[in-house]
Amino acid sequence: LTPHAFEAADAYLAETLVGHDDGLEHALARQRDAALPDIEVSPLSGKLLHLLVRISGARRVLEIGTLGAYSTIWMARAVGPDGHITTIEAEPHIAAIAQENLDRADVAERVEIKIGRGADVLPTLVDAEPYDFVFIDADKESNTLYLDYAARLGRSGTVVIVDNIGREGEIVNADSTDSMVIGTRAALDMLGSDARFDATAFQTVGLKGWDGTAIAVIV
Ligand code: DHB
Ligand code: MG
Repeated sequence: LTPHAFEAADAYLAETLVGHDDGLEHALARQRDAALPDIEVSPLSGKLLHLLVRISGARRVLEIGTLGAYSTIWMARAVGPDGHITTIEAEPHIAAIAQENLDRADVAERVEIKIGRGADVLPTLVDAEPYDFVFIDADKESNTLYLDYAARLGRSGTVVIVDNIGREGEIVNADSTDSMVIGTRAALDMLGSDARFDATAFQTVGLKGWDGTAIAVIV
């Protein structure tokens, strides 16, 4: 089984189940043109986020890590016209591209981009209405901080997703010196031991190689 086989199966599943959306596809093209990192969620994972938002009935979504707003648009399509997404992006020039992509996808009125580091922006949200759904997809080193804020900014029943928990299987390496592996392991330890969360995770193979996603609910 080669990585190529995973990609072919992903492409087949995406073609069969995901379909096409001009706003999403334009956002990807714009992100590529701007030479932003090629690390957005795959189409199948974007659709999973979309379905999880719909299945949970979430109206207020918090996203940490906007990039080109590809995942943001997927979730914005799911919250509906009365829903709202707060998405946090550290880099102003990336936020500007994300804003253009949200405008083009016709969801800008239901999304607010907050520009700044998560560690600086999240404390400003503590008095907001609770979030129903939190998607954590930013610097992996800060994952435990982001989970702590997810618990504080959510409510019982809030869904919390952590992207990229597989890291090519490196998560089993307790001696890893890779700060992203260390941050990911810390997040998984927290999800397993912090009584505020009930969680699972699954590994994924596909367009993005061997990775995974954690899914939790706030108790
Ligand atoms: C990386 C980050 C991501 O959010 C992702 O989806 C894939 C890779 C990274 O920084 O390596
Ligand atoms: Mg990611």
